[in-house]
Amino acid sequence: MPNTTFVIFGISSDLSKIKLLPAIYHLIKDKKVTKFSIVGMASSEYTVDFLIDSFAKEMDNPDNNIINKMKKNMVYLRGDFEDPEVYVSLKNILQILKRKNILYYLATLPIYFKPITFNLKKNKLNKEKKNWVRIVFEKPFGNDLQNAKELNKCIGGGFKEKQVFRIDHYLGKELVQNISILRFTNILLEPLWGRNNIDHVQIILNEEVGIGKRAKFYDKYGVTKDIIQNHALQLLALIAMKKPWVLQSEYLRNEKHRVLKYVQNISPKNCIFGQYASYKNEKGVKEGTKTATFAAMKLFINNDRWKGVPFYIKAGKKLKKKEVLIYIQFKNRYKNNKKQPQPNYLVITVQPSKGFYMVVNIKEPRTNEIKEVKMNFVHEDAFDVNTPEAYETLFDNVLNGDQSVFVRSDEIEESWRIIEDITKEEKDPLIYRDNTDLKEANYLIEKDGRKWFR
Ligand code: BG6
Repeated sequence: MPNTTFVIFGISSDLSKIKLLPAIYHLIKDKKVTKFSIVGMASSEYTVDFLIDSFAKEMDNPDNNIINKMKKNMVYLRGDFEDPEVYVSLKNILQILKRKNILYYLATLPIYFKPITFNLKKNKLNKEKKNWVRIVFEKPFGNDLQNAKELNKCIGGGFKEKQVFRIDHYLGKELVQNISILRFTNILLEPLWGRNNIDHVQIILNEEVGIGKRAKFYDKYGVTKDIIQNHALQLLALIAMKKPWVLQSEYLRNEKHRVLKYVQNISPKNCIFGQYASYKNEKGVKEGTKTATFAAMKLFINNDRWKGVPFYIKAGKKLKKKEVLIYIQFKNRYKNNKKQPQPNYLVITVQPSKGFYMVVNIKEPRTNEIKEVKMNFVHEDAFDVNTPEAYETLFDNVLNGDQSVFVRSDEIEESWRIIEDITKEEKDPLIYRDNTDLKEANYLIEKDGRKWFR
C-alpha cells in the first residue's frame, strides 16, 4: 500500500481513542499499512504522546514498536474546525509530509461536516493529483432530511462521489457483511424470501451501556437518529433488498437504495419510545429532557415482495443485555393442526455471538412429538476468533477504494425520509428501570399476535 496520510478531525474524541487509532494500529500490525503519517486535529491542547498513550493503555499487550512508530509519524494540529487559518496550517503540514494519498476522517459532530468540507475545498485539499484523496464521514450524516441533502450538495461541490465514504460501522461487522453472501450465494433461501413464506422480521439492537460521556451529542439525537436511521435501516435494506446482479459495490448500493425507496414513512402510531430512569441525571443532558433512549416500531415495505409483511425494530440503551440480531419467522403451514408444529425461523446473530441458525421441526425418537432443533453456525468455530474489528475492515476498504460497505448519498436521504414523521415532535418517553426491558414494547407486537424474539 503506497504511503498514506490519515488526517483525523476530532482526534481527541472517544471514537478516535476506542476505534480509529486501534484500527490504524491493527492495519500497521497486519502490514496493510507500511508507510504512513497521521495528522490529528482537535480544539484543545494535547500532545501526540498523550493521544497515543491514551488508546494504547486500553489495549492488551500492545506492540511497543508499533506504538512508537505511530508516535514518530504523528503530528498534532490544534485548532477550531471553523477557523480558515487552521486549513492553511494543515496545507503546510501536508506539504512538509509531501502529500501522498490522503484519507480525511471526520470524527466530529455533524455540524462540522460542512465547514470542514468547505475549507478543504477552498484550500484545494480535495484535489487528486498523482495520488488519491478520500474523505470519510462518521455517522449520523446530518440531522434530518433537509440537512442531509444540503450536506450532500456541499460535499458534491468539492469531492467526487468515488472519493466520499459515509460510514455506518455496522456494515463493517463480519456477520452483517455475511447477510448478502448468506442470502444470495446459497440457493436455499432466496426462493422463500418474501411475503409468500415469511411471516415477519425483527431487527433487534439492544445495548447494556448508557450514553457514557456523549450527552452533548446523544441528547440532541436520541435513539431514532443515533441507531434507527442508520444501523437498523441498513440491516433492513440488506435483509429486504433484491439480489444484486453482481455482489459488488455499486450493484449492492443500487439495490439497497431501491428497497429503501419502498419503505413507508414510519408512522408515530406504530412506535413506542422509552428513556432509562437514570438518563435525566446523566451529566450534560438538558433539564426535563424528552430524548428517547429506546424505541420499538413497526414498518412496512410497499413493494411486491414484502407487501403486508411487518418489520419490527427494537433498539435502545441500558437494557438487560447487549444483543444485536435479526430474526426472520417463516409462515406456519399447519396452523390448524391439533399438534401444531412451530414455525421455522432463521436468526442471524451479529453480536456478541456471531453466527446464524435455522430452527426446524423433527420427530422425537419413540414418540410422535414434533420438536424444534437448531441448525447452527457459530462463526468462531469455523474461523479464527480474531476476526477484524469493524473499523479495521472499514479503513481497509477506504484504502482500497472499495465503497461497498459505505452508504451512498441517496440511501442516506431515503433513511432520513423514512424516520421523518417520527422525529418531528418530541413526545414524553416512557421511563424504564436501568438494565431492564421496557414492558410496553411488548404491546406493539403482541397486539399483532406475535412476540419479540428472546
Ligand atoms: C454507534 C452509536 O453508532 O453505535 C452508539 O452512536 C452505539 O450510541 C454504537 O453505542 C453501538 O455500536 P456497537 O458496535 O457497539 O454495537
